Amino acid sequence: MQNKQAEKNSFNEIINFSNIIKEELNEIKKLQSFIKWTDNSFILDVGSGVGRQINSFPINNLRKVIAFDFSYSAIKVCKKNLSEYDNIFFVVGDAEFMPFKNNIFDDCMCLGVLHHFKDFTEVLREVNRVTKNGSLVYTVDPNAKNPYEKFGINFISKILIKFSFYRNFFKNILVLNENERALDESEIVDSFSKTGFKLKKLEYFFIKCRSFGLYGKIRFIIMNFMKIILPKKYGCNMIRTIFKKYEK
Ligand SMILES: C[S@@+](CC[C@H](N)C(=O)[O-])C[C@H]1O[C@@H](n2cnc3c(N)ncnc32)[C@H](O)[C@@H]1O
Repeated sequence: MQNKQAEKNSFNEIINFSNIIKEELNEIKKLQSFIKWTDNSFILDVGSGVGRQINSFPINNLRKVIAFDFSYSAIKVCKKNLSEYDNIFFVVGDAEFMPFKNNIFDDCMCLGVLHHFKDFTEVLREVNRVTKNGSLVYTVDPNAKNPYEKFGINFISKILIKFSFYRNFFKNILVLNENERALDESEIVDSFSKTGFKLKKLEYFFIKCRSFGLYGKIRFIIMNFMKIILPKKYGCNMIRTIFKKYEK
């Protein structure tokens, strides 16, 4: 079960993302070669945050986009960041209980979100319910095959956040909350398969990590070193997928 309070409390960190939109935009733009929207489609962005991902897509070609997030504060900033578009609508709610009708969205993106759940099958059941048959679902999450991601997010950060006397200090530089963890390919594929999706594409990729603060700089050096010495599956810090909802 996801600790909802921890998600709510982490809104400040989420909002910090808006300050690094420019720094990360070039990296995020690379997603455009992975995600192919059909013109005039109706898209659900689950866990939109402050909109840094949607903002890098050709939104005007889409019929309608719903930016959906649990954090009211994130949605408020998202609305401001995307105020130039009149085809984006903003909804606050829980991805495990979505306030949408069945079979209405053409496609769905869920970028950097599934790893915020200890078990994300409920989210996928909801995504299945609200999307049409044949819809594509795009995901991006930290890759647990990368030793630094697995150890850093799943182990060290948990200890620092939970037990450290200076936990607020660590929390701020780690930009993590206790729900977060890196995901293994097998867990992603299994969870999608049992909720009615077929894998279309899976890729490991590298995204330059934030390098501010001492922790950020150390992380940056280790990550880049691993990228050079390890095979792609292990050296890449992120994993992205495309799943298709079963045609019934
Ligand atoms: C790492 S951020 C990713 C934001 C955005 N997709 C991006 O890539 O910039 C994860 C987002 O998931 C949202 N989230 C976490 N749990 C959620 C839930 N149960 N329902 C809806 N959104 C949730 C958080 O509020 C946060 O905005």
